[in-house]
Amino acid sequence: MLTRSSLLLQVLLLLGSTTGIPIGTPDLLSTAPGGYLLQSSPIPLPFTRLINPNRKAQLPQADRQRFQSLYGNAQGSTPDQEAAVFNVPSTFQVVSYVATVGIGNPPTNYSLLIDTGSSNTWVGANKTFESTSSTIPTGGLFSVEYGSGFVAGFEVEDVVTLAYELTIKNQSIGVAVFAEGFDGVDGILGIGPVDLTQGTNVPNINEKTSTVTDNAWFQGLLAAYEVGIGFAPADNGELTFGGTNPTRYTGNINYVPITSTKPAGNFVGINQTVSYGGVEILHNAAGIVDTGTTLLLLATDAFNMYKAQTGATLDERSGLLKVTPEQYGQMNSLYFDIGGRRYELTPNAQIWPRTLNEEIGGDKDGIYLVVADSGNAAGSGLDFIDGMVFLERYYLVYDVGNSLVGFATTTNTYSNVN
Ligand SMILES: *[C@@H]1O[C@H](CO)[C@@H](O)[C@H](O)[C@H]1NC(C)=O
Ligand SMILES: *[C@@H]1O[C@H](CO)[C@@H](O)[C@H](O)[C@H]1NC(C)=O
Ligand SMILES: *[C@@H]1O[C@H](CO)[C@@H](O)[C@H](O)[C@H]1NC(C)=O
Ligand SMILES: *[C@@H]1O[C@H](CO)[C@@H](O)[C@H](O)[C@H]1NC(C)=O
Repeated sequence: MLTRSSLLLQVLLLLGSTTGIPIGTPDLLSTAPGGYLLQSSPIPLPFTRLINPNRKAQLPQADRQRFQSLYGNAQGSTPDQEAAVFNVPSTFQVVSYVATVGIGNPPTNYSLLIDTGSSNTWVGANKTFESTSSTIPTGGLFSVEYGSGFVAGFEVEDVVTLAYELTIKNQSIGVAVFAEGFDGVDGILGIGPVDLTQGTNVPNINEKTSTVTDNAWFQGLLAAYEVGIGFAPADNGELTFGGTNPTRYTGNINYVPITSTKPAGNFVGINQTVSYGGVEILHNAAGIVDTGTTLLLLATDAFNMYKAQTGATLDERSGLLKVTPEQYGQMNSLYFDIGGRRYELTPNAQIWPRTLNEEIGGDKDGIYLVVADSGNAAGSGLDFIDGMVFLERYYLVYDVGNSLVGFATTTNTYSNVN
C-alpha cells in the first residue's frame, strides 16, 4: 500500500542525503548519557485544557473523524501490519489536553497532546526541535498517518523530562519534517499500547518503539508499570506515571482486562453495556477509552435509541443533540456496566458545559448533550468511545504491565458543574 506518508518518506530519504537531516548509521553507544537516578514514584504530570480557537470542524464531526480513522484504518490493513495504522492523535479538537514535556539536556519545553489512542512521541509541529548534547540521531525515519493529517520525519533518541522529576533516557522521539493537522501544539505524547507503534518506523516497519511509559519502567524509574489519568470538568488534569494519585479519586479502582475484540482491543479498549432509562442501548459492546476524543460516541443504533428516549433534536450549528429545559428536567442517568460494576453519568454529566456553548457554535443558554453518533452500526468491534466527558467524571488507570483498565469514582462523578 503506497500511502501519503510512505511517499513523503521517499522524499525525506532523498532530502536526508543532501540537506544534513541526520540519516545514517546510529552511533548510540559512544554518546548515550550514562547513569540515572532512581526517582521517587509515582510522578504527577499536570496537563492543561486548551480551547482551540482554530478548530476547523464541528465538535462531533472532529470526534467522528477520529473515530472513523481509528476504525477505517483497521479495515484496510493487512494482517502483519494490523497494529501499524491505529495511530490517530487528536487533531482539530475544540478542546485539547496538553502537557509540558522537556526534551534534551538542557531540556527544551514542548507542549504535547496527551494521547492514549497512539503511542509515538514526537515534536516539531510548531516549535522547531532543538538538538542538544544529549540528542542522538538513530538514522531511522518515522511516519504516522492520521485521519485528518500526518507526520513524517526522522528519529532521535534523547532524554525526556516529565514533571521536572522523571528523567527518561534513550527515548525515541520523532522529529517532524512534515506535519499537517496539528493546531496549537508541538506534537504528541503517545501513552497508548506499544503495539500501536508498529509500522511507524522506517525502514524497520516490524519494529516497535518503546513508549515513554515502557522506557521509564524498564529503566527502573517507576514503582508500577501503569499510568493514572485524572481530569475534572472545566479544569486541568494530571497524568501520574508509575501509580495513581489517591487525592484524585474516591473508593477503589476496579479493573477489567483490555477487550479481546478488535479493533477496540488494539487500544485502551474495554467491553461495556450502556443503558438509558432502563433500556440497554448497547449490550456487552467493545470500544475504547480515549483522551483524544472529547465527546461520548455511540454506535448509530445506540445513539438513535438515546436520542429517541431523551427527545433531543440534532442542532445544525453545533452538530450536537439539544434538549429543552423541560426535557432536561426529565432526563435519566446513563449507565455503563463495566466488569460487573455500574458507572453513572447523571443528566448533568450528559450535558456540554454551558460556559463553552459559544465555543462550539451553540447558543449561550442552550442545553447540548455530549452523546454523539459514531457513524457506525453496532457490532463493528468499535461501538463506542468513552472520551473526555467520561474521564472528567471517572479516574482512569491504564495498567500497561497487566493490560488492564481501571476506573474509580471522583468527587466530580455526581457533581453538578455543567
Ligand atoms: C541507552 O542505549 C544504549 C545503546 O543502545 C545502551 O547502551 C544503554 O544502556 C541505554 N541506556 C538506558 C538507560 O537504557
Ligand atoms: C519549562 O517550563 C517550566 C514551567 O512550565 C519552567 O519552570 C521551566 O523554566 C521551563 N524551561 C525552559 C527551558 O523554558
Ligand atoms: C508556536 O511556537 C512559538 C515558539 O516557537 C510560540 O511562540 C507560539 O505561541 C506557538 N504557537 C502555538 C499556536 O502554539
Ligand atoms: C468482551 O466481549 C467479547 C465479545 O462478547 C468476549 O469474547 C470477551 O471475552 C469479552 N471480554 C474481554 C476481556 O475481551
